[in-house]
Amino acid sequence: MRLNAFSVLLFAGTAFAALPASAAGELNLICSADVVICEQMKGDFEKSHDIKVNMVRLSSGETYAKIRAESRNPKTDLWWAGTGDPHLQAASENLTAEYKSPMLGDLQEWAQKQAESAGYKTVGVYAGALGWGINTDIFTSKGYKEPVCWADLLAPELKGEIQIANPNSSGTAYTALASLVQIMGEEPAFEYLTKLNANISQYTKSGSAPVKAAARGETGVGIVFLHDAVTQIVEGFPVKSIAPCEGTGYEIGSMSIVKGARNLENAKIWYDWALTPEVQSRMKDAKSFQLPSNKNAEVPKEALKFEDIKLIDYDFVAYGDPDRRRELLERWDREVGSAAN
Ligand code: G6P
Repeated sequence: MRLNAFSVLLFAGTAFAALPASAAGELNLICSADVVICEQMKGDFEKSHDIKVNMVRLSSGETYAKIRAESRNPKTDLWWAGTGDPHLQAASENLTAEYKSPMLGDLQEWAQKQAESAGYKTVGVYAGALGWGINTDIFTSKGYKEPVCWADLLAPELKGEIQIANPNSSGTAYTALASLVQIMGEEPAFEYLTKLNANISQYTKSGSAPVKAAARGETGVGIVFLHDAVTQIVEGFPVKSIAPCEGTGYEIGSMSIVKGARNLENAKIWYDWALTPEVQSRMKDAKSFQLPSNKNAEVPKEALKFEDIKLIDYDFVAYGDPDRRRELLERWDREVGSAAN
């Protein structure tokens, strides 16, 4: 067949039209990790793709609420990072879409399990254990005893010296609440949280804010993920990370595509990209020191190894359940949050 210039043009046009329409265009993303890694991810993605990322940073609980509120008319395509429980809760309410990435087989067992348990409506991107970051200067100058166990945070000398986020907005604080319930049992955990309230100066919106406040010397203790304390140590602040003696919970930071996403193909492109070892190995450049989910990603030397921490067997199925979430948060509001106001 001989092609004239017109048919070549026509052919090229047809071939172009056959490409997925959204290989270019936009992606509406909510990022629930720290703003520095959120910005790095957006920048790296835009450099290597012809896709504009409209990103907002919201805490995990806030994102879950937003995705629920938008469910009839979704504005968000993809939710990257943040603790796994609200991702599981969203999956269980059918707010997120099933997707099996070709990268799935390269992920750690915990990340694959997270996907499997949610009918592939979410996937694990990183993991990190909960603990505290303390300001060592404050502890030395005020002569406080360093806490070793959860029980030590009730010491009267620590009145007004502790910060933790609000579990309604923050996935970190929800992980703390669910961990304490699993460690102590529900009744003793709420008694503990009611007593602890006397020592809390502020319930912040975002999960890592308490250790940033500790780094600046505004509070003695922040109850946060240990890797968020490590970030402050690496930044040069007088912070020490402590894993509680009774044991502690952990997060499987996750990623989900929103059901009904307008830019579905672009969401899948980000999803596969964010699971690659190259992208996950670069998280440490933003001083984000979680354990990566891809087996071939580099584990940052600063990351705390799970083998060195007394971890509980966190029940993601039970605490990733929307009804359990509602129950725990209503009780927290009634017994702890209301007393804080
Ligand atoms: C920090 C941590 C993340 C975690 C996130 C949860 O950014 O580094 O590992 O997933 O907090 O944020 P949130 O504000 O929901 O507690």
